Amino acid sequence: MSSECNFLFVQSTSVLSFELCVCLLLFIAVFGLWLTPGGLAWALYRAHSRAAASIPGPSGLPIVGLALSFTHHSLTHRTLARLSKAFKSKPLMAFSVGFTRFVVSGDRDTAREILSSSAFADRPVKETARMLMFDRAMGFAPYGDYWRSLRRISAVHLFGPRQLARHGEVRRGIARRVAAGAAAEMGREGVVRVRSLLHLGSLNNVMMSVFGKWYEFGESGEGLELEFLVKEGYELLGMLNWSDHFPLPGPFVWQGIRKRSMRLVEKEHRVKRANMIHQEGDESHDFVDVLLDLEKESKLSDLEMIAVLWEMIFRGTDTVAILLEWILARMILHPEIQAKAQNEIDNAIGLNKMVADSDLPNLPYIQAIVKETLRLHPPGPLLSWARLAIHDTHVGPHFVPAGTTAMVNMWAITHDEGVWPEPERFRPERFLEEDVSIMGSDLRLAPFGSGRRVCPGKSMGLATVQLWLAHLLHKFKWTACADRGVDLSECLKLSLEMKQPLVCKAFPRIS
Ligand code: HEM
Repeated sequence: MSSECNFLFVQSTSVLSFELCVCLLLFIAVFGLWLTPGGLAWALYRAHSRAAASIPGPSGLPIVGLALSFTHHSLTHRTLARLSKAFKSKPLMAFSVGFTRFVVSGDRDTAREILSSSAFADRPVKETARMLMFDRAMGFAPYGDYWRSLRRISAVHLFGPRQLARHGEVRRGIARRVAAGAAAEMGREGVVRVRSLLHLGSLNNVMMSVFGKWYEFGESGEGLELEFLVKEGYELLGMLNWSDHFPLPGPFVWQGIRKRSMRLVEKEHRVKRANMIHQEGDESHDFVDVLLDLEKESKLSDLEMIAVLWEMIFRGTDTVAILLEWILARMILHPEIQAKAQNEIDNAIGLNKMVADSDLPNLPYIQAIVKETLRLHPPGPLLSWARLAIHDTHVGPHFVPAGTTAMVNMWAITHDEGVWPEPERFRPERFLEEDVSIMGSDLRLAPFGSGRRVCPGKSMGLATVQLWLAHLLHKFKWTACADRGVDLSECLKLSLEMKQPLVCKAFPRIS
């Protein structure tokens, strides 16, 4: 080999080995970061801060972390519960989704600490929520004066005891319609598709409280459009949007979430505006009127008002319908419990009267059934929408930096055998033996969350579910279809739904 060739060879191998070294270093850096407890986002934080105590947790996949556990229809609550066990990190576990730092707790004491802390009074705002303008609605509004004033207005004018009582007759009327719908479907087809009936009933229930407006649901028309809007919005908010966790340029946001959100906003504004105009000059005084009246003093803009009202429709519709579907499924699977509940109703109100709000305190078993279903199938297993650390803080012995998303795995707590004996067993009697509050003070079962951001619609939601359940059990004996049974598989969207919609039979008990 000539000396020239030798020189070239030496030069190219040194270039090669230089590239190799860089690649090797990069490889070590990425995998070193990736292998840090909690994964990439935590490693990046630790790289420039010495404050962070190490919180145990999985590193997940390189770069994406646990993102795949949050994709469409994954059972994230189960995955997180399993990982917390494996990493012996039930009180607090760290993980990453792309560049976003998360902590999750499956322990009631730590959960209370997180939910009641002012440090976690904010929520992370997803891009979809921002596009739907939900950052101006109560659920996503930053903790501050604007959010406080929304909570106050709705506590007084929408969720207060007077409003709840005033709305009682509407709830009863809708219960009657749902039951009539079930009877008609049974007569026509020999089966009842519970989900769509409950969904329409629940949507009307919220629409009546917010707009004082009833929708007839036919093959076409405004009602159908509204139903589509709610479904679409619910789906969008429940989806993982990769651009929330990765700095992706526009063209790489391939899920079409942006486009779908924009289309939805356009349609939704048309419907909401029409409703607001519809209300002007109306005699009734609904939540829309309250907001319109307040406008002058509190300066809620048109768009903010739409966001606030729209969120109520969203939040109030599916949670109630989903919970009732789970309860009816349980009633079919446990006929002895169904019969005991029917006995209680018959004894408390007789056969010919229709159940009313005032009867509910005399139906403790019905209340226990609702609680037991909320325990086994909480609609928000991860408390629906997470919290965000406003500033650096501590949770137990662990340092949690500002900007970390915190979740409570309520499902893990309600399925923990250290908390609930025989947690997998459906046994409403446990709530007759011990009175457990589910409104947020007892973190063994807090399906409506707790602390400053606790669900403001919890009393409305519970009153609706209890009344409708009592009426549906009073009117019908519910049984499975011989050819399909009841499938309790779950599907996690924004709420935890039954994967296979319940199709069953309803036989009249009373005329
Ligand atoms: C069975 C029924 C319901 C369940 C299980 C439920 C559950 C929840 C949960 C878990 C949260 C998060 C709480 C937290 O972060 O601590 C929440 C928040 C919220 N819920 Fe509900 N909810 C229900 C019914 C309703 C209804 C009927 C409405 C309104 C019509 C409503 C409106 C809201 C709003 C506006 C928030 C956000 C509060 C804030 O961030 O300040 N919910 N709900």
